Amino acid sequence: MLIRKSPDIPSSEITPKADYLSRRTFMTGIAATGVTALTAGRVTRWGGTVHAAEKLQTVKSPLSLKGETLTSLQDITHYNNFYEFGTDKGDPARNAGAMHTRPWTVQVTGLVKKKKTVDIDTLLKLKPMEERIYRFRCVEAWSMVVPWAGYSLSEFIKQCDPQPGAKYVQFLSLADRKQMPQINESGIHFPYSEGLRMDEAMHPLTLLTFGLYGETLPNQDGAPVRVIVPWKYGFKSAKSIVEIRFTDKEPPTTWNMMASNEYGFYSNVNPNVDHPRWSQKTERRIGASLFKQRQPTLMFNGYGDQVASLYKGMDLKKYF
Ligand code: MTE
Repeated sequence: MLIRKSPDIPSSEITPKADYLSRRTFMTGIAATGVTALTAGRVTRWGGTVHAAEKLQTVKSPLSLKGETLTSLQDITHYNNFYEFGTDKGDPARNAGAMHTRPWTVQVTGLVKKKKTVDIDTLLKLKPMEERIYRFRCVEAWSMVVPWAGYSLSEFIKQCDPQPGAKYVQFLSLADRKQMPQINESGIHFPYSEGLRMDEAMHPLTLLTFGLYGETLPNQDGAPVRVIVPWKYGFKSAKSIVEIRFTDKEPPTTWNMMASNEYGFYSNVNPNVDHPRWSQKTERRIGASLFKQRQPTLMFNGYGDQVASLYKGMDLKKYF
């Protein structure tokens, strides 16, 4: 992203699997709710609890991609952008392990009929969990294919009762310097903020995401809850969300505040609009064989049939 010190392919991309596995405890036995019983967890030096992975029971979604090779769990969990834990792609796997994700609540604020605070365990059980295999395209011109687990954000928004004046949704991430000491070095504004227009947020593809590969999200991927907006660059997909705010104006977003000429509010994947430092015409598929690594980037990341109508009549070069 903005900070150049992080190389495009750091050696951390090849962190041994054992490092990852040692951070997670694999659970068995699926409860009727679709989520396994919680483990006891481990008390951290901040007094919170780090929760082990839980299995998620998912149903397959018709919105899943077909016929694309999944990116390995190892790559998905060791090639990350999560600036609260450092700017190198390997930093989140190294540093996010101790973030405590229980107790965890999400505040619903702004233009809603009734502001509320929702506990993560309530959110997890609100709707049946689906497995959605999506392409994930970062503005740095790399991509992955990830089997996420979650349900459409629209299901939750409907329960939030937004007021008619609510035109945008803002997502705010946890920013806790005690748990995230690297925040001080990353040089960007916190809390990490992202936003969507209401119709984008209500689009069925927009996923309120709790897991990947059939288990709860690893911390470095945004535990316990993030959004995934598959037709937009990855930075629109805020991690470790603690507040969802409904607004009447376009909300300020972290990367746009840092460099508005580089990161627009919309940030739809678009091979025809280059980022000043990365051509968007092609992408490097993480983990693919050398011959298949570079591939053409698709308009709206290949989701044009579903989402192009949201932008009818808009100049996508101006509203990049
Ligand atoms: N959310 C928070 N809170 N902090 C971040 O630094 N980085 C964004 C996005 N969400 C980021 C974030 C960027 S730049 C990308 S590309 C994706 O998360 C990366 O998601 P991944 O690490 O699961 O691949």
